[in-house]
Amino acid sequence: MNTLRNVSVIGLGYVGLPVAVAFGNEAKTIGFDTNPVRIKELQRNHDRTGEITSVDLSAADILYTASIDQLKKADFHIIAVPTPINDANQPDLSLLISASAAVGKALKKGDIVVYESTVYPGATEEDCLPVLERESGLTCGRDFKIGYSPERINPGDKEHTFTKIKKVVAGQDAESLEIIAQTYERVVTAGVHRAPSIKVAEAAKVIENTQRDLNIALMNELALIFDLLGIDTGDVLKAAGSKWNFLPFKPGLVGGHCIGVDPYYLTHKAEKIGYIPQVILAGRRINDGMGKFVAQHTIKEMIHAGHFISGSTVTVLGLTFKENCPDLRNSKVVDIINELEEYGINVQVHDQLADPAEAFREYGISLIKLGDLKPAAAVISAVAHDTYRHWSTPELLMLLVADHPVLIDVKGTFEPAPLQDAGIRVWRL
Ligand SMILES: NC(=O)c1ccc[n+]([C@@H]2O[C@H](COP(=O)([O-])OP(=O)(O)OC[C@H]3O[C@@H](n4cnc5c(N)ncnc54)[C@H](O)[C@@H]3O)[C@@H](O)[C@H]2O)c1
Repeated sequence: MNTLRNVSVIGLGYVGLPVAVAFGNEAKTIGFDTNPVRIKELQRNHDRTGEITSVDLSAADILYTASIDQLKKADFHIIAVPTPINDANQPDLSLLISASAAVGKALKKGDIVVYESTVYPGATEEDCLPVLERESGLTCGRDFKIGYSPERINPGDKEHTFTKIKKVVAGQDAESLEIIAQTYERVVTAGVHRAPSIKVAEAAKVIENTQRDLNIALMNELALIFDLLGIDTGDVLKAAGSKWNFLPFKPGLVGGHCIGVDPYYLTHKAEKIGYIPQVILAGRRINDGMGKFVAQHTIKEMIHAGHFISGSTVTVLGLTFKENCPDLRNSKVVDIINELEEYGINVQVHDQLADPAEAFREYGISLIKLGDLKPAAAVISAVAHDTYRHWSTPELLMLLVADHPVLIDVKGTFEPAPLQDAGIRVWRL
């Protein structure tokens, strides 16, 4: 099999675009996406996810296309489409299957298809491979080969970028593994880790995020206990963190489409083979309930401060699922907002990184500009964007009513003492 490969990337989102740019920096690359708006924006060197600058986009040699025919120009196809869950927390492979069908239509003898989307162990070989064979009329192993290489990028993180993170690679046999490893080694300066099988690589990815989810769930459970005991979780974690092997996790909302979603891929597969996971699902339940807990605590703090609840105003700072990232998918801040509204509170939401049209389309939330926010009885600092992080006490006070203001600091962003000295009642998770 030919080792020097022409790359196509299918799905140009948070994951796919940086991959396409890395390959496009060294050779012509095909960038395929089914969203015509995304294709047009990229052709104009604009990345709405904020991951790649227009200078970097214009420097990369990428043919952006929504045409399956163009995929025939490549012989190494990387699939990076979303793998969400449905309302019942079950894996939704529909986009992965349709992307496989598109690649299958363009597949030639000698091609390699590598999946980067997060899946459960077995999905690549059991769910995707048959679609490639059906659409191409070719036989896997004889005519083309497949592999898996999970993505580890962290949107909004400008330090751990695609080329600087060691990449796990796997192939269906020794020959494909070597070609896949060498192809990624062309662009990933941190190097690759050769996993012994596709299933191992799939499982490795899904447990990286499951481990993180569970560690955060433990911190969240501790926060619930310490709240009942009347001690500050941040103070406890600081004290415990002085031990050399105490892991530095913090409580918080677990949203987005990775940490809060991937564990369900693993539990789905486990249940299918007759094992009911207990620890993983318990962690998921705790993390999924934190938005409601924060909202209820906001109400308690407001009552203690002397505010009427129904008809009062609360400002929420940050709607995206994590700091310094415009991604709104599966934001748990929405749980806080919904719960507050159940109590008749007027919630006003500000987020300068989120797209207002998307916030309205996804959640029916109209984002409010900073200057238009009314003074609120309570401000909830929900997402620690850098712009909020650097606000001074007087800047926060401008958002609050003069009498008995309350600050709910979900991420422990602000030093409580100066705020308390300024008369603000502060609670943090
Ligand atoms: N975003 C992350 O932090 C991250 C990190 C590691 C792994 N992952 C995994 O990577 C995969 C992709 O996630 P993402 O965040 O890049 O998603 P995304 O939503 O940002 O991007 C996906 C892109 O794929 C396109 N698309 C959808 N269906 C398609 C199809 N059938 N054919 C071609 N294009 C299609 C969409 O238009 C979109 O532009 C998921 O499996 C995710 O779990 C994501």
